[in-house]
Amino acid sequence: MRNILVTGAAGFIGSNFVHWVVEHEPSVHITVLDKLTYAGNRENLADIPENRMDFVHGDICDEKLLSKLFPKADAVVHFAAESHNDNSIANPDPFVETNVVGTYRLLEAARAFDVRFHHISTDEVYGDLALDDPARFTEETPYHPSSPYSSTKAASDMLVRAWHRTYGVRATISNCSNNYGPYQHIEKFIPRQITNLLSGLRPKLYGDGKNVRDWIHTEDHSSAVWAILNDGRIGETYLIGADGEKSNIDVLRAILRTMGYSEDDFDWVRDRPGHDRRYAIDSTKLRRELGWEPIHTDFDGGLAATIEWYETHRDWWQGVKEATEAKYKAQGQ
Ligand code: NAD
Ligand code: DAU
Repeated sequence: MRNILVTGAAGFIGSNFVHWVVEHEPSVHITVLDKLTYAGNRENLADIPENRMDFVHGDICDEKLLSKLFPKADAVVHFAAESHNDNSIANPDPFVETNVVGTYRLLEAARAFDVRFHHISTDEVYGDLALDDPARFTEETPYHPSSPYSSTKAASDMLVRAWHRTYGVRATISNCSNNYGPYQHIEKFIPRQITNLLSGLRPKLYGDGKNVRDWIHTEDHSSAVWAILNDGRIGETYLIGADGEKSNIDVLRAILRTMGYSEDDFDWVRDRPGHDRRYAIDSTKLRRELGWEPIHTDFDGGLAATIEWYETHRDWWQGVKEATEAKYKAQGQ
């Protein structure tokens, strides 16, 4: 695997993946394909050495562009997506276009040029679990997506499965839980609360705050994707998770404590329509088959490092803070 094409690598998880590959795999060259939407930032890749990466500014829906890029790639890792649930509720249109049509265009290119394809997906395709349910999601859990975002991701997973079974595309899929770490857009839960506090604003908690997310550090997501790309069985799906279940209110209180505020210094705001209650991943298959293990098992330590990153990278987020909060305010959140 010498030349990989990575879609959506100017975003949060894709840019962390590029950093991970550059650090751990010295002989791999990366071509990035990214549309630089509101969520993409060229700065996220500014420190990648020129001889390790080419950056192509373009759309995954652009067939002509794909037919130029695919013949040069040994494999494609597909992160590009519209990724934020709240945005999908306000306007589903770009979610259908990028997540469904975009993935279809990439699969057609993978078929035409016989390129190995790894599709990045989410645990949200499985819907949600009750707070008191002992079950966790496995690769066998039926699909039951709730939001426009998660239903477009579910649709894209189905396309990948069909293109493998019908046309023999050499594809794998991974469904990961909630990521945290550097370079995450400040619309998302953890960076929104950190940057609110750094801006003199109060954190905002949806609903009753009891919703549970299964947190994984983005570096652990990257190492898992690399393991699947290289050693995963073609046609298989792997769930990625690091046993990090926490309620939103517990995460928020940890942020407030770490940043020196009282644990009650936040506002309750309107709940997200259709808000999934709980996600939980059983990653036994990935661990048993590929020997993968997360290294960031100390959530409080990872959170403290993430807080420090936002404190020391104000230039990275300050320019979009006002507009991000104005959008939330208009939604009552
Ligand atoms: P993000 O919103 O931070 O980044 C998305 C990137 O895709 C941006 O750089 C954007 O410019 C690019 N993009 C969007 N539309 C495009 C198009 N049409 N053509 C080319 N590029 C386009 O997203 P993220 O949080 O880094 O998520 C990356 C992937 O991981 C997504 O597929 C998401 O569904 C999945 N995922 C995310 C999480 C999470 O916790 N954030 C968890 C599991 C899975
Ligand atoms: O589970 C994986 C998914 O995790 C990914 O597929 C998505 O791309 C990613 O955005 C994330 O989705 P969530 O909806 O879980 O993440 P978000 O950061 O938007 O919200 C996390 C939880 O926090 C959720 O229960 C809603 C709540 N929340 C969010 C915001 C922005 C708040 O209580 N207050 C907030 O201000």
